[in-house]
Parts: sequence; C-alpha cells; structure tokens
Amino acid sequence: MPCCLRMLVLDFLFLVVHPLFGSSHTSPHEFIRQPPKGIIFTRHGGSASDPQQVHISLAGGQHMRISWITEDKKAPSTVEYGKSPGKYDNTITGVHTSYSYFFYTSGKIHHVRIGPLEPGTMYYYRCGGSGPEFSFRTPPARFPIEFAVVGDLGQTEWTSSTLAHVGGADYDVFLLPGDLSYADSQQPLWDSFGRLVEPLSSARPWMVTEGNHEIEMFPIIYPHGFSSYNARWVMPYEESGSPSNLYYSFDVTGVHVVMLGSYADFHERSEQYQWLRNDLAKVDRGRMPWVVALLHAPWYNTNEAHQGEGEEMRKALEELLYDGRVDIVFAGHVHAYERFTRIYNNKEDHCGPMYITIGDGGNREGLAMRFKEPASPLSLYQEPSFGHGRLKMVNGTHAHWSWHRNKDTDSYMADEIWIESLSSTNSCLVGGPPSRSLPSSTSSSSKDEF
Ligand SMILES: [Fe+2]
Repeated sequence: MPCCLRMLVLDFLFLVVHPLFGSSHTSPHEFIRQPPKGIIFTRHGGSASDPQQVHISLAGGQHMRISWITEDKKAPSTVEYGKSPGKYDNTITGVHTSYSYFFYTSGKIHHVRIGPLEPGTMYYYRCGGSGPEFSFRTPPARFPIEFAVVGDLGQTEWTSSTLAHVGGADYDVFLLPGDLSYADSQQPLWDSFGRLVEPLSSARPWMVTEGNHEIEMFPIIYPHGFSSYNARWVMPYEESGSPSNLYYSFDVTGVHVVMLGSYADFHERSEQYQWLRNDLAKVDRGRMPWVVALLHAPWYNTNEAHQGEGEEMRKALEELLYDGRVDIVFAGHVHAYERFTRIYNNKEDHCGPMYITIGDGGNREGLAMRFKEPASPLSLYQEPSFGHGRLKMVNGTHAHWSWHRNKDTDSYMADEIWIESLSSTNSCLVGGPPSRSLPSSTSSSSKDEF
C-alpha cells in the first residue's frame, strides 16, 4: 500500500474507529482524553553539506558522541568545539557510515567522540567544518541531576507538544525507552524524525534503547533488523563492555543507567544476560547510589494493550535487577502512563524496583485507553494521556519523580512522588554497606567528572 494511502487508513482507524471503543476508565483526575494528531514531516532547509539531524549522547569517561547526517558524501566527519561561541580550541575527526534499505540509501552518517569534557559546562560546536553552530551542556559533577523521560515518541503534533514541554524544563539528560521515529520501514521518516528532535537532541545527551518499531526486519534481505537504528543511534555499548548497540549502560552524576534490549536475546545463556549480570555486579553504590533501568515492553502492566509481552523477559532478568537493587524500571510500548509500587515477582517488595510505564510521548498510533478493572493494588496510578516524565535525583538518597500530561498546549503535572534510594535503605543492602560513605547532597563523583 502506498505510503500516503496507508497513513490515511491509519488516521481513519485512529480518529474514527478507535474512539468508538474508547475506555470508560476513570482516572484520578477528570480530563478529556486527547485524540491522536497528524504526523509532522520535517524537511532539511540547508545545503547538502550542512549538518542535519544532530544529536549527542554520553560516550563514557567524560566524553560525548556527536552524530549527524549530511547529504554530501564528501563532507568531513570532524567536530570543532570550545567553551566560547565561535571559538573552537579543539578539532576531532571521527567515523562515518551509511546504510541501504530496499531503494533507500541514507546520507553520510557521522559519529565523532569528543572529550574529555568538563562537567556542568556549556560547549559550542560545529559539525563538518561549516554550517550553523550548536551548543550543549554537560551533566553536573554533583547532585542534583534531572532526567527527562519520554517513551514512544513518534513525530506527530503531540510529539511536538511533548518536546516543547521538555525543552522548557532545565534538564540534563534525555532518556527514551524505545520507539523513536515510527518510521516503520519508511526510511525518510527516520530523517524527518532526526530533524524534528534536533533542537533538543543537539543540546542535551539523548540516551535511547530500542523498541519494536526500530526492528525493521525483513526475511532473507534484512534478517537481523535494526539497520537504521544501529547506524543512526550509536549508543555507548562498546564503552560499557556490551557486545551490542541494543543494550548498554552508562554512569552519570551518581546514577548508573542500564538500557536493556527487549528485542535482543535475554535468556540465561545469552550475551545480554551475561553482560547485565557483570554490569550490575560492578556498580559501586558508594559512587553510584542510584541505579535505573530502561526497557521497552513493560514487565508490569495493567493496561489491556500489550498484555504479557514483557513476561518472558521479566522471568529471565527480574532476579538480576532485584539482586542489583535497581531503584526504578522505566518501560514504554503501552501508550499510556502507569506507576506501580516497588515490586519483585508480582508482589509488593520494598527492596524491589518501582515500575513506571511512560509510553505516551506522542506517537501516531494514539493512546491505549483501557486499563483492567478492578485496578491491581500494585498499580498506584494509571492514565491514558500523552505526556512526559522528569526524574530529579536531589541527592544520593532522595529523588523526585513527576509526570507531566500534555494538556492542550500546556504541560500539567498530574502525578508526583518522592523516592528513596535502595542504597540508603539499610534493610535492602546486599553484602553490607556501600564500599564508600554515601555522597551527601552536594557530592556524587569526584569534582571533575560527570
Ligand atoms: Fe512499542
């Protein structure tokens, strides 16, 4: 089916048919549910050599990876950067790649790892020796640090609202638990997505993991999938000892973040399982009092959509996360917001992770309207609305989580909770106290690191 016709059919299904089967679910707040909105196709306004789709990501050891695409295949993979606008003290050359998918061939995809960088510092940079100047701020050396958390983002007018709300917040790192562009094999939509998010993704590190919409597998021709995702969104898997871009981890300002792969093998003999076990065993909770995990298909979910899809992964990996005293697990996939209590093996457990589903970034598929009734006592808040979350680690012991619903053009904080770290909960400590004294409210790692 041609692209435009397919979109029209999808729009019809979501705008006309979907509401007919809408939910009678009552949320904690009376609110008229937002209908889906149209896709935004964002075009490139510059020359062939001008950088587009610029995004940055943490790349281990005080480094940042700068990624962008040029239509010009001769454009150099160099980044010039410095701490003052227009004054570039450093030039680093990186690598480039490209990929083909049926009749589509990507532009030149550049990845340049720069650093070491100073924490909490503005840097100004230019890609490929020409074009506009961009800037970013490195994460702080000490608490507090704030994460924006958005799943199932897509590229609709709701996405645009979500990004505007996130962009209005003073956050440090963007976390995305899968389903980025919803290109679904229509490769120009990957380019459009990169352009749409560039104002944010060029200014703060975007750390993502894959969802089902990244797979783009096709029998025999593309049997392994992820051609576009792996070429465009290189994450610090090598820096974290992972064999695959589909799962990795990173440390930032006293927080160890584990990005898991719902669509990579996770069984006991798999590389992901072995890597995760080693990764969690190495975490020094004195330096990293918080551990947060992200994955796509939720392990706990009381929405009627996608029931049971995360169950096999939960059975394989839940014990590792529990023993690793992971504080919070974020998931996407279900297009709604849901917050659970701390859980282990389907029971409330004060040493287990808190589970949050945040798959409501603004994708074209619309909202998952129905939650099971009666509500599970494990599920403390459910709401099918577009929005985003903010997680602020105030210090080594306390964090504030808030969920911000897209209310027309405003952002409205509809849910919030204070969270205590498991590393500061004596009854949950494994193998005695942390190897160092816990950081105070003003320290996390040493002063020169983020
Ligand atoms: Fe998904």
